[in-house]
This record gives sequence, C-alpha cells and structure tokens, in this order.
Amino acid sequence: MDRNAPGAPLRAALAEATEDRLVLDLAGITGNHRALRRELPGVAVRFAMKACPVDEVVSALARQGAGADAASPNEIAQAIAAGVPVADIHYGNTIKSDHNIAEAYRLGVRDFATDSVEDVTAVAAHAPGARVFCRLATSGHGALWGLTRKYGCAVPEAVRVLDTAREAGLTPAGLSVHVGSQQMTTEAWHDAVDLLAEAITALKRRGIRPDHVNLGGGLPALGYLDRRGRPLEPPLDKMFAVLREGMQRLREVAGHPLRFVLEPGRHLVADHGAIRAHVARLAARRQPDGERRHWLYLSCGKFNGLYEMDAVQYPLVFPTHRGAKTVPAVVAGPTCDSDDAYDAEYGLVAVPEDVASGDPVWLLACGAYATSYTTTGFNGFDPLPYTVIGGEG
Ligand SMILES: Cc1ncc(COP(=O)(O)O)c(C=O)c1O
Repeated sequence: MDRNAPGAPLRAALAEATEDRLVLDLAGITGNHRALRRELPGVAVRFAMKACPVDEVVSALARQGAGADAASPNEIAQAIAAGVPVADIHYGNTIKSDHNIAEAYRLGVRDFATDSVEDVTAVAAHAPGARVFCRLATSGHGALWGLTRKYGCAVPEAVRVLDTAREAGLTPAGLSVHVGSQQMTTEAWHDAVDLLAEAITALKRRGIRPDHVNLGGGLPALGYLDRRGRPLEPPLDKMFAVLREGMQRLREVAGHPLRFVLEPGRHLVADHGAIRAHVARLAARRQPDGERRHWLYLSCGKFNGLYEMDAVQYPLVFPTHRGAKTVPAVVAGPTCDSDDAYDAEYGLVAVPEDVASGDPVWLLACGAYATSYTTTGFNGFDPLPYTVIGGEG
C-alpha cells in the first residue's frame, strides 16, 4: 500500500491525540484527487459525499475543482455550503421522493440519476427541463460490496427510460454504471465498458445521443486487509489502463463528443483517515468446546467508526508496544452486539500480550464511511469526534 500509506503528518496527529478520534489528512485526500486526475486526464471528478460527508473534505476537494455526487437534498445543501458550484453537483441517487426532487431543483441541481420510468416521470414533473442520466445495472462481481439489485436497469429498459425522459421534456443526457464498491478486478471495468457500448449503440438507433458517461465509484482503497488479515492489493494501475482504453472505445462507438464523469468515494478518502482508539480490555475466555481464545475489545467498533469491520480489517498499530510478544486475538468493538467484531474464526490479529486497558491503538485506512455510517450512540458509545489536518492541501 505504498502509494496510499498514511503519511508522517497523519501518524504524528495520531501520536499527539490523547482522546479517541478520527483524523482525516486533507493533504493526502487532495493528493489522491490530483493523482486520479493525472491518471484519467479530462475526466470530471465528483466526490461521492456519502463516503465522508465532512465539510472540510468536501471544501478541500472543491478547491481543486471536484464536484459532488449527492444522494439527498441535505447532501446537496452541504456541498453548496462547502463551496461546490451547483453546476458541479448531481443528484446521484436513483431513489427519491417527489419532495426530494423538488427540493434538489429548488437548490439549483439540474442533473439527476434515474433508472425507472416512474422516477424519470417524477423528475419531469418536479424538475422540469432537467438533465437525466440512466444507471445501468452491473453484476457487482469482484467487489466487496456489489451494490446490485437495488439500482440500475438493463439496456433495453434504459432506452425506454431515456425515451420517456425525452418525451417528457427532459434532456436524456447520459448513462452511468457503478461496478461495486472496493472493486478488486479489471474485468468489472471491461464488462461495464461493454455494457455502456451496447447502451450507446441502442440509444443511437432511437436518435438519442448522450453527452456524457458517468463511470461511477468503485475505485478501491489500497490500505485494507481482507477478513483474514491479508493485504487486499487491488490492481489499481491496470484498472486505470482499462478505463483509459474503455473511454476511447466508448468515444468511438458514440461517434460524437462524449464527456466522462467519475464519482469516487472510498478511493479518495479511505487511506487518509485513521482512528486513534484505545484498548478496553484484552481477555482470554475458554469456550464450552474447551478452546481458549483471546479477544481484544477496543473503544470503537462497528457502530462508531468501523462499520465495515465484518468485510475488511483495518490495520492495527499499537504505538506503545512495538516489537512486543503477541497473541492471536479476535478484535471487537465495545458494544453488547456480537456483529461488532472482526471475523472470529479466521480473522485473528497479532496483539501485544501485555496491552492494558487504556493503551492507545491506531486503526489505519478508516477514512471512508466512518463518519457517515456511525450510529448516534448505540449502547451509549458516542460517535467519534474528528480532526482534520493538512488543511493547506
Ligand atoms: C451512486 C454512487 N456513486 C458513488 C458511490 C461511491 O462508491 P465508492 O465509495 O465505492 O467509490 C456510491 C456508493 O455507494 C454510489 O452509490
């Protein structure tokens, strides 16, 4: 994870923290945005706010020209307040009530995702004259979170939806895909390009020429471990190469100018956020089957910062116990909920055997979906406060 390894400023901030908190490194996040723009020149980046709806993050990215992919009127309002020009914000959620659409329109948004005739008809009624892009369904194969079924439609249905849009006075402006979050394969991007090419060709027959393609989110973070604690190592450079070739192919298929949009969330923020937590207790318990197992209970877990701990492991650092003798332990959060843990069978972590209650623990690669997926205080454990560093980034 060299490219995205937490830098010295993030580690220094973790070391300075005396209380639990999430630390977000703005310089790292904006550096990731710049790297993405270098890899995919000319592609408009719209940050998927759901991954880290923190004002300072949205503002820092906006200062670099990133727009916002918003999923609700509240996210739209937050993006505007954070300095994102409203023309660079789209309503990327295919699920919205009449009221949501009208509110987004009132706030100035003119680009809406859609995937059904019902939704597009509502957009025509409550956001007259708006631009719509239709989300195509993908398999989600190869991703840790597939995002299938709930969104997107088949190609013939997309043609019907965009045809309906045109008849209703909307601009059938584009197509979108999402290959699934933390996508680990290049094949998923190949398949997405095939699907988009098929849709562009089918739309052409109906005289519909989308002016842009939204390639969605799904670009991976580099710093996670899998559920068993092995580095994930997604082939990021190969993904970029497939995307560059894919965009060229889609331009050729379209035969007219085509703009490209990406709406990354996790890829921009995950590796540049880390949590300073502390040890609640290292305990060893013998089970009815006679097995004795160590459990490391932390002050934060699934319900306050580590929502995705059932699918990935965040690397742990014990800053006051480097090089210490370790025991294999299941890592778990502080609540009375059994989901609040790493994989108890295969996901054992090497934990210094002499850690004591109160000792600091750092959890790396926690920048994505930590603030947004936190509960308001399940079991009385408060959401983690956050600190941003590297503001000049
Ligand atoms: C429409 C849309 N765009 C972008 C994203 C961000 O995805 P990721 O964090 O995998 O980049 C999501 C995630 O759920 C999404 O639903």
